[in-house]
Amino acid sequence: MNYLFGLIGYPAKHSKSPWIHQHFLDQQSLHGAYQIWETSPEGLKDTLSSMKKLAVDGFNVTVPYKEKVMDYLDEIDPYAEKVGAVNTVLLRDGKWIGYNTDGRGFVRSLQETYPHTRLSEKKALLIGAGGAARGIYAALLEENMQRVDIANRTKERAEALLPLNTSSASSSALSFQEAEDNLAKYDIVIQTTSVGMTPNDTAKPFALNHVKDGAIVADIIYKPFETVLLQEAREKGANILHGHGMLVYQAALAFELWTGTHVEASQLLKEFEQQLKGD
Ligand code: ATR
Repeated sequence: MNYLFGLIGYPAKHSKSPWIHQHFLDQQSLHGAYQIWETSPEGLKDTLSSMKKLAVDGFNVTVPYKEKVMDYLDEIDPYAEKVGAVNTVLLRDGKWIGYNTDGRGFVRSLQETYPHTRLSEKKALLIGAGGAARGIYAALLEENMQRVDIANRTKERAEALLPLNTSSASSSALSFQEAEDNLAKYDIVIQTTSVGMTPNDTAKPFALNHVKDGAIVADIIYKPFETVLLQEAREKGANILHGHGMLVYQAALAFELWTGTHVEASQLLKEFEQQLKGD
């Protein structure tokens, strides 16, 4: 079997995905290629139809097409339907099936880094209520957490995510001020906004003054490798989780769907960390 995988997005040229997937192909001794189809919105329909003709075995979808691509798929997995976005497409029996591995990639990164953390006994706070937060919210709810709250600059947008919760977890929408004042109640704090991303490396969306002893503080930003928020969390003695893990594990989950294998990402994470620190 010679696999053909790829990515559609705009922009997409500088994506790390080809490097990550080549690593997984090599690790599993599989043959194949991972190609980037950088596609403007006007060209999306034609690009997808040529990808179907090429019988691409699977592809990833990035900004700005994670919602739009759903119009072109034959089936959508119920979890992706719930999240309202697709980042992974699998060709099965000539049909395109859409999945979402972003939020679950975050959860796997958390579990692989902190394997003794029992999510079902924990309370989490999400900072931000955009597309990334939505996927992570749905994935955390699948883990039957005790509580998952959402704090957002615009509280109404956090409230709009609450209907996704059909689990037994308690869940509330909070203003930043409310969340900062009550931070000591959370075991896991997850920063999902773009605040602190290069070139705005010195920005921090949220104050960690009341962070609980032994809490895990995660940021999904991976450029810079360690955001100011994570530096502050580290100084306060919290356990931290860097953003590159989510990127690697969402790719791992996509690769596993496409190939039916189970990949190991620790070596890749180390190499990725060195690259990000060198950038
Ligand atoms: P993504 O898909 O990457 O999550 P998005 O859907 O545009 O992007 O969501 C961006 C998130 O970052 C939102 O939670 C947004 O807050 P608002 O809903 O109030 O806009 C948050 N965000 C962006 N810039 C911010 C800033 N300067 N301070 C605080 N939050 C910010």
